[in-house]
Amino acid sequence: MPTTRETIGNETLVSAIVRSYPASVRVFQEYGIDFCCGGSKPLSEACREKDVSIDRLLADVEKARRPPEGAGTRDWNAGPLGELIDHILDTHHAYLRTELPRLARMLAQVIEKHGEKHSESLPALDETYTGLKKELTDHMWKEENVLFPLVKELERTQSSGSGAGPQRMPVSAPIMVMEQEHEAAAAAMRKMRRLTGDYTPPEDACNTYRALLDGLQRFEADTHQHIHLENNILFPKAIELQESLSGP
Ligand SMILES: [Fe+2]
Ligand SMILES: [Fe+2]
Repeated sequence: MPTTRETIGNETLVSAIVRSYPASVRVFQEYGIDFCCGGSKPLSEACREKDVSIDRLLADVEKARRPPEGAGTRDWNAGPLGELIDHILDTHHAYLRTELPRLARMLAQVIEKHGEKHSESLPALDETYTGLKKELTDHMWKEENVLFPLVKELERTQSSGSGAGPQRMPVSAPIMVMEQEHEAAAAAMRKMRRLTGDYTPPEDACNTYRALLDGLQRFEADTHQHIHLENNILFPKAIELQESLSGP
């Protein structure tokens, strides 16, 4: 894959950059550079207006194009559950905390501009996304305040060698709820994929519309990885740990 610097020149139009690299929208948003209606400006001019270094901006675009850090680089089957939990919090929960509202803002803009013309898909996409955003926010709260502390407590009990002790509740109960919520989230993501024709922008889509679809697709990929780490590694290992502590 050629680097961003190899394909983008100082005079490349901002609108052309976001078309080639939808992930760059996040960077233009951060620097307050208009990439949608006022995007037909050369990069050098847009950067001069905002007093931003072109090299720094392109380095950020390069970073935004890469897959999320830590994805698939470590074998989480080995190692303490507390570290896996911290990784989930720092990577996936932190990502959702910034990405869920950013996508909601873009979706609102797209609906305002294209809602009537694409009434077959956009209102349903809005409804599905809004529901999913709320569910995921509540879901993360439960993991962060109920399940994850319980698992960390189990691990501390194991390393202190003091036996199961007075556990507040077995991890299997909240895990079952979390798994059901993961299934509901996966169903909502399948619906969004169907509604957007596999995240394909319509012919008349503006740059915000394209960036929204790109963002939703990345959100789906990140959430799949997130759910995989919890369902396939963290949850079974937490149940195993609890069973090993409660003895034969
Ligand atoms: Fe999670
Ligand atoms: Fe979860």
